[in-house]
Amino acid sequence: MPKQIHLAAHFPGVNNTTVWSDPAAGSHIEFSSFVKLAQTAERAKFDFFFLAEGLRLREQGGEIYDLDVVGRPDTFTVLAALAAVTTHLGLTGTINSTFNEPYEVARQFASLDHLSGGRAGWNVVTSWDAFTGENFRRGGFLAESDRYGRATQFLATAKELFDSWPADTIVADRESGRFLRDGHAGTFRHTDAHFDIGGRFTVPRSPQGRPVILQAGDSDAGREFAAATADAIFSRHGTLVEGQKFYADVKGRLARYGRRQQDLLVLPAATFVLGDTDADAAERAAEVRRQQVSGPTAIKLLEQLWNRDLSGYDPDGPLPAIDPDVSDGHIARGRASVRMHRDPIATAREWRDRAEAGHLSIRELIIEVTGRQTFIGAAATVAARIDELVQQDASDGFILVPHVTPGGLDEFADTVVPLLQERGVFRTEYAGPTLRDQLGLTR
Ligand SMILES: Cc1cc2nc3c(=O)[nH]c(=O)nc-3n(C[C@H](O)[C@H](O)[C@H](O)COP(=O)(O)O)c2cc1C
Repeated sequence: MPKQIHLAAHFPGVNNTTVWSDPAAGSHIEFSSFVKLAQTAERAKFDFFFLAEGLRLREQGGEIYDLDVVGRPDTFTVLAALAAVTTHLGLTGTINSTFNEPYEVARQFASLDHLSGGRAGWNVVTSWDAFTGENFRRGGFLAESDRYGRATQFLATAKELFDSWPADTIVADRESGRFLRDGHAGTFRHTDAHFDIGGRFTVPRSPQGRPVILQAGDSDAGREFAAATADAIFSRHGTLVEGQKFYADVKGRLARYGRRQQDLLVLPAATFVLGDTDADAAERAAEVRRQQVSGPTAIKLLEQLWNRDLSGYDPDGPLPAIDPDVSDGHIARGRASVRMHRDPIATAREWRDRAEAGHLSIRELIIEVTGRQTFIGAAATVAARIDELVQQDASDGFILVPHVTPGGLDEFADTVVPLLQERGVFRTEYAGPTLRDQLGLTR
């Protein structure tokens, strides 16, 4: 029996993935866009719908990036509304453990799990930067080194709250017309270095008991947090070699916590461009990359390595001859990992050499070095590649990020999914009512 593939639909996030110039490009705010992507994912029997989160719009030099999505509606409101227009699709939201409080978040997820009949998922992220903190009047209140300490206690506290109502508590008995309750249901007290709270949790035990837990950090501490507590990990390692390395690393950490290989799913982010033939897809992919990296975006991305104002440079001209600024402080604001390049001077030298050798402008170079789509090809090529990566333990599936909102998943649903089903590696019917059922999680 081959491994079964898990697939999720990522509503396009804050960054420059979205191709605005496509005639089919639509709103990232209107409810109809969320409904369209979620219903396509459900029609294709995807495991879950996924919302990323940015709690402050990214800025550089006091400006928002020209291709960024500049609206971020509230996660719980969107997911609760989607629960009403879907029946089996998991509803997963990214919620930060630095700027929120466990009681509030546990209440929201328990409520979502009730409203959706057991389909809630929580991607726990630890972004801590002071720039984002200003939105919460807590600028810089948490040191980077404390982010997983707080996340661990945050999640442990939330789990105490989810479990504070015994599974067999009868809330209402219709026959006798009486309201029965366990006098202790919901009571809790939690004290640690980050939280000192007690009281009574207001939401009775939800269908899944607690939401499915995802984790998206990549550091050693982040991977350890996932191995100890998460049901799935969202990663950036979607290629064969990098994926296998990451997969072996995180799965190798599970035994320490008495957990089995199947208790933590590895789900890398993936983008895709389809075509009638592989050559057609490659041509479309190159065009999509150009749309994703405008001239101004190329300069902004270049500034992130150089850590300097390069607004005077021509994106169609050569790379700067000066070296990056490696002093403290960073030009990009509102990103989790501000220092993205370990050795900026060496990387700048490498980029310059590459640009000179290939006669590339700033924009052309940035298009090359800031990534390409994960899957490019005709539907059969893409289906075979996804299957290969999963069977060879580079992942347990993928969180797919379409580049057009809201119709960017249609072609994948219509052409790739049936081929995966024919291969016997993707469901043709949902396994049960809950997200835990779709993910094959037993706990
Ligand atoms: C694939 C991926 C997706 C992420 N998505 C988000 C997000 O939507 N919102 C957010 O605040 N942080 C996001 N993060 C940031 C991480 O969750 C984490 O807070 C950050 O990377 C710091 O932890 P680390 O040092 O362990 O990587 C993402 C990280 C990864 C790897």
